[in-house]
Amino acid sequence: MLAIETLNQFYGESHTLWDLDLNVPAGQCTCVMGRNGVGKTTLMKAIMGEVTVASGSIRYTQEQGEETELTKKPIEARSRLGIGYVPQGRQIFPLLTVEENLRTGLVARGDGVKKIPPRIFELFPVLEEMKHRRGGDLSGGQQQQLAIGRALVIEPKLLILDEPGEGIQPNIVAQIGQVIRRLIKEDGLTVLLVEQKLPFARKYADRFVIMDRGRPVAKGNIGELSDELIKQHLTV
Ligand SMILES: Nc1ncnc2c1ncn2[C@@H]1O[C@H](COP(=O)(O)OP(=O)(O)OP(=O)(O)O)[C@@H](O)[C@H]1O
Ligand SMILES: [Mg+2]
Repeated sequence: MLAIETLNQFYGESHTLWDLDLNVPAGQCTCVMGRNGVGKTTLMKAIMGEVTVASGSIRYTQEQGEETELTKKPIEARSRLGIGYVPQGRQIFPLLTVEENLRTGLVARGDGVKKIPPRIFELFPVLEEMKHRRGGDLSGGQQQQLAIGRALVIEPKLLILDEPGEGIQPNIVAQIGQVIRRLIKEDGLTVLLVEQKLPFARKYADRFVIMDRGRPVAKGNIGELSDELIKQHLTV
């Protein structure tokens, strides 16, 4: 679905992603793990076009098998290709209502559809109940559900979530995990997840990739995520 090759990225002089290779297979949840500051968010932003890359390629394959080089595409084009993005820290609009927040996602659709897909309220009934509340009045967990809902209004094929469980009550984290599995199973989505919480990754991801200092250092099926690897690369 996504094939990243020898990607390099800099913030000014600071080399953040180093010759990074990463594959995201279709129909699975790939979980990117790693300590704070290793470049996980930068990698997601590079995929979305929010940071420019110095070199390397990010190839995105659509259902029909058509390949697109994302590094040559502007931000808006990437969402129109069917890539939904839930940024770290949610970034919802606090003064807009839940419904208005969801509508802001519609502009990223390629087909001009102006209706919020009912599937979003099916996955997150709380968003329907709270349609007229302001985003800023929701709990952290509800805001995260809203951020995911907003990314889903384009009916993406690939969904990128950057630490969706950060600072959120455990029952909502579990609901989000279940929605990820439903999206894969029922809607045929591919998920690229950034997550530092081990139990969450073990429960909801199919594959893991551990990053350290801007490059992947280990990867495999989630069952192969050993205590040894965790000790070496994930515990502080
Ligand atoms: N806009 C920026 N300008 C300069 N340096 C940045 C910028 N954003 C991030 N960095 C630096 O780049 C490195 C990677 O940051 P990034 O946010 O990608 O890490 P991360 O793995 O997502 O961390 P976390 O687990 O804390 O979210 C860090 O050293 C960070 O300080
Ligand atoms: Mg981050």
